[in-house]
Amino acid sequence: MVDLRSDTVSRPTAAMREVMKVAEVGDDVLGDDPTVLELQEMGARLLGKEAALFVPSGTMSNAVAIKTHTSPGDEIIAEAESHIYYYEGGGYAALAGCSIRLLEGVNGAMSSRQVAAAIRKAAGSQSHYPDASLVCLENTANRGGGVCWEQESIDAVAQVAHERDCAVHMDGARLFNATVHTGIDAERMVRDCDSISICLSKGLGAPVGSLLIGSQDFIDTAHRWRKMFGGGMRQAGILAAAGKFALENNIERLADDHARIKRLASALNEMQSFSVEMETVQTNMVYIDVDENRFSGAEVVDALAARGVDMFATDSHRLRAVAHLDVDDAGIELAIGAFTELDES
Ligand SMILES: Cc1ncc(COP(=O)(O)O)c(C=O)c1O
Repeated sequence: MVDLRSDTVSRPTAAMREVMKVAEVGDDVLGDDPTVLELQEMGARLLGKEAALFVPSGTMSNAVAIKTHTSPGDEIIAEAESHIYYYEGGGYAALAGCSIRLLEGVNGAMSSRQVAAAIRKAAGSQSHYPDASLVCLENTANRGGGVCWEQESIDAVAQVAHERDCAVHMDGARLFNATVHTGIDAERMVRDCDSISICLSKGLGAPVGSLLIGSQDFIDTAHRWRKMFGGGMRQAGILAAAGKFALENNIERLADDHARIKRLASALNEMQSFSVEMETVQTNMVYIDVDENRFSGAEVVDALAARGVDMFATDSHRLRAVAHLDVDDAGIELAIGAFTELDES
């Protein structure tokens, strides 16, 4: 069996469970869980920011960030396929009271010109427009194929956002997949971002948790919204220990996931029934287009499952495969074999 549905499915390793077992804990809602404090310091340091906040999920991290940066009635700007828009239940509207301006980017990345043109303010519009106050980026871009933003684009988008009085939030659920692929230091990558969310429970292999990272002032306000969203956790050091272990041990090995997905993508691209845009295969995921004349995405998912390979269909003729800690070379070969059988059927 190989589970390629998402990098969220990996289970904590024996070594990770060991550090969880012996973690020193306190009551983090009261601010005295030493392991949570260490994890937060570690996250802030890694990204060159002042402070960090441990939250239960990437979705909550983004929601708290949006709430902290905006006021009700504001507008946020995001890419049309972004996770914040696509998969977070409209939290920007329900929890922060914001509208969203969607921009169609390339593989999940928007240009600074697009962003500059999209930012609008109430002032000067006879109050017709909302105040855009936040620009959200996603690196790597999930529905963009796991593609990494160009550093110049991050810098340029942040510059136009700041010039027009907008904050910049980076949904870096897979930021370290981007740093490993590009070789760019994490601190440099997010230099101009006001807040960053990183997920510990995806490629990094922790069971639960994300870090929201930014200035001390930003995190102080975010702390209040985390409380109101119900994200305060008590003896969370057990989870934070896994997060620390993940940051210490599981960043560099992301390169193995990237290599395995490249192997799968190249093999698929040789087949008649499946194709892949190889230039988008940069990190730990691949989107696979299925020949409409042969199968639907759902048919392929069922046929693969019968052969011990789990994968999601993301559209009627599109599948996604994601490598992670629980996927080894044999798992990739199993998947290639299953696709080959289908292709030749
Ligand atoms: C880019 C991106 N952001 C945010 C999230 C949300 O993370 P969580 O599932 O922990 O809420 C995900 C989850 O897959 C994601 O891919």
